Amino acid sequence: MKKILTYGTFDLLHYGHINLLQRAKALGDYLIVGLSTDEFNAVKGKQCYFPYDERRKMLEALRCVDLVIPENCWAQKESDIREFKVDVFVMGDDWKGKFDFLDKHCEVVYLPRTPEISTTQIKKDIVNKKN
Ligand code: CTP
Repeated sequence: MKKILTYGTFDLLHYGHINLLQRAKALGDYLIVGLSTDEFNAVKGKQCYFPYDERRKMLEALRCVDLVIPENCWAQKESDIREFKVDVFVMGDDWKGKFDFLDKHCEVVYLPRTPEISTTQIKKDIVNKKN
């Protein structure tokens, strides 16, 4: 069984996220998503609209997602790859090159982002509509 691992915040789940997750799953048989916790987001200076548990439940409801694990820090990727025997590490190409060091442990793939959609953009559009 070929295992795929990706990470993200997946706040205000949108079609860009779904496109990424479906293409990631298509690279293998079992997709694991490392979902950043609210505490880790605070470290990154990010604040989510939906708390961790709600984001987790939405991802778990997707047919293409097999397992959601918490992402607590930057450094856990190598141990997650080892622990879950991951074959392919996948991220959107906004991260291109940033995780090449993981290629000692598994294949590293960057998928093209879906244009013109992001959580940040949705938040901005909502604020603009209100005003
Ligand atoms: N992603 C994508 N296409 C988009 C938006 C996100 O392929 N239009 C991918 C990212 O590259 C990443 C994953 O989805 O691999 C999770 O991204 P995340 O940062 O949670 O979503 P964004 O919408 O980019 O959120 P933000 O605006 O807060 O950065």
